[in-house]
Amino acid sequence: MLKSKKVLVTAGPTREYLDDIRFIGNKSSGRQGAEIARCLLELDADVTLIIGPVNLELSSLGKVIQVETAIEMDYAVNEAGPFDIAICAAAVGDWRPKEKAKTKIKKTSKGKPPVLELVENPDILKNLCISENRPKLVIGFAAETDNLLANARSKLKNKGCDWIVANNVSAMSQNMGGEENEVIIVKRDQEIKLERQSKEAIAKLICKKIVDEISA
Ligand code: C5P
Repeated sequence: MLKSKKVLVTAGPTREYLDDIRFIGNKSSGRQGAEIARCLLELDADVTLIIGPVNLELSSLGKVIQVETAIEMDYAVNEAGPFDIAICAAAVGDWRPKEKAKTKIKKTSKGKPPVLELVENPDILKNLCISENRPKLVIGFAAETDNLLANARSKLKNKGCDWIVANNVSAMSQNMGGEENEVIIVKRDQEIKLERQSKEAIAKLICKKIVDEISA
């Protein structure tokens, strides 16, 4: 149903290194993105999955490019494109340490912790939306702990994407890193709530909406 459509899926966390062994990361398991990639493959799409460090079996998920940092993910997206459809499900680190220390950062004798200066990472989703070869359909994710809908709506506008899949990632929800998810697909003129269910089932529903949109 998506035959000959080139589809990008980004998934998983990124690691933003302080030195060779320490990084800033997040709890993303990559599962929701991986399930979306699997489902798109079943729909005959030409899928490129660009994924951060995860503990998942990736061998049956199409063209898989494994990366660690946001900078690497951004580079890989640009190299692998252009795409007809992009689904940015990765939990990309918003910031990285301004400098990565060349050797392991040591404790000082005065016991003063180091001060971390952070710089902003490239916004892969936003850059895709303003690129010359913008995919026909660009879908972002919004992982929020509060004001879910309001934040999703402002993300839809700020990023310039077509849909935002909003999910609650508060510690209580256990959605981030967990087996299940509950999301709201936020479009410019419509909101579609997908009740709590497995990430596989959520992926199938999202992909069905994608097929409907592309064939409309
Ligand atoms: O701004 P925020 O991180 O909340 O945005 C989330 C959405 O933007 C997700 O779709 C994520 O994959 C994407 N994103 C990105 N590059 C970044 C930050 C977020 O592609 N540097």
